[in-house]
Amino acid sequence: MEKNFATPERLGRYLLLQRVAVGGMGEIFYATTEDENGSTYPVALKRLHPENKDQPSFIQMFFNEGRIAGLLNHPHIVKSYEFAQEDGMLYMTMEWIDGPDLQHLMRLGQEQGQPISIRHAAEITWQALQALHYAHTLTLNGQPMHLTHRDISPHNLMIHRDGILKITDFGIARMVDHLSLTATGVIKGKIPYMAPEQTRTSKVTPQADLFAMGVIFWEMLCQRRLFFDANEMRCIDLVRYAQIPWPHQIRPEIPIALSELVVWSLQRDPEQRIPNAGLFGQYLEAIMQEIPSEEPLRDYVQRVCAPEEGINSTQEIDDWQPPTLHQKTQVSTNPTRKL
Ligand SMILES: Nc1ncnc2c1ncn2[C@@H]1O[C@H](COP(=O)(O)OP(=O)(O)OP(=O)(O)O)[C@@H](O)[C@H]1O
Ligand SMILES: [Mg+2]
Repeated sequence: MEKNFATPERLGRYLLLQRVAVGGMGEIFYATTEDENGSTYPVALKRLHPENKDQPSFIQMFFNEGRIAGLLNHPHIVKSYEFAQEDGMLYMTMEWIDGPDLQHLMRLGQEQGQPISIRHAAEITWQALQALHYAHTLTLNGQPMHLTHRDISPHNLMIHRDGILKITDFGIARMVDHLSLTATGVIKGKIPYMAPEQTRTSKVTPQADLFAMGVIFWEMLCQRRLFFDANEMRCIDLVRYAQIPWPHQIRPEIPIALSELVVWSLQRDPEQRIPNAGLFGQYLEAIMQEIPSEEPLRDYVQRVCAPEEGINSTQEIDDWQPPTLHQKTQVSTNPTRKL
């Protein structure tokens, strides 16, 4: 799966040093480029699968999303740098995150018998909610933009080795709704994090992101999948039915207030769901006061990822070693994945 280039491939002003993952929309590369002073810096480059651009109005949509992504400026959102087209290839570049995505972190934690703690689950969720609140309430020229991510899932939440969470794929995730053929594998991976209303209509509100965040929070707390069935149709039914076991009944050490908050975010009817990310974050923060602090999240991330080596983005490119921290694999198309 992973390609190391003996002679790195070039794309525009980027040098593709290693392909680190293949997602539903494209391939992710660890790449480098130079700033105006000639200093080299790393980027994550997503090269879209070539067949996507043959979809009607896809290219226009791609550049529209690029403009929107360029407006987003938040410490918990992966910064996008450039949306471009070169040699018939569409690609986008963004801030390189030296750390695992949440799906990978959860899997590593479980494999090592050190699953994410209640406190860390709350911290991760709280950080994501800050970003969602910012995006959901963003205005342009005084007008609300009603931005919804639409694909909040563990593989789109990156956790930097310093413990900072960053949401990736803002904007670009929305294009998937407009794809047909190539989206099949993408859709499969997304169903367990879709809001019930999202399985019926493409016109969803920010409430869909809150539901997705609720599923992720529930799964971190309960250490198991909430909606899972290898059969796509049955999985859609599970989401639509949205039967939510109380987290504190699965793990009695989960505070009841936290359990209630999660279940509120998972209401089937968006009108009954917690009204917005800001409030979700505030309630969570209040409950977190009651949960004792433990080791900083960054120490947990580094410990659990320790057997793998990270990329030090400040190191000289001449000293550069291929990234192995993530062991990134094709995740979107594998519906049978475990945490
Ligand atoms: N900015 C980034 N820095 C470092 N690694 C990244 C970055 N963005 C994504 N990745 C890694 O690449 C993997 C694949 O990302 P990609 O967005 O292509 O696919 P996906 O998230 O699995 O599916 P989808 O196409 O639905 O978003 C991610 O799971 C993550 O591990
Ligand atoms: Mg992604």
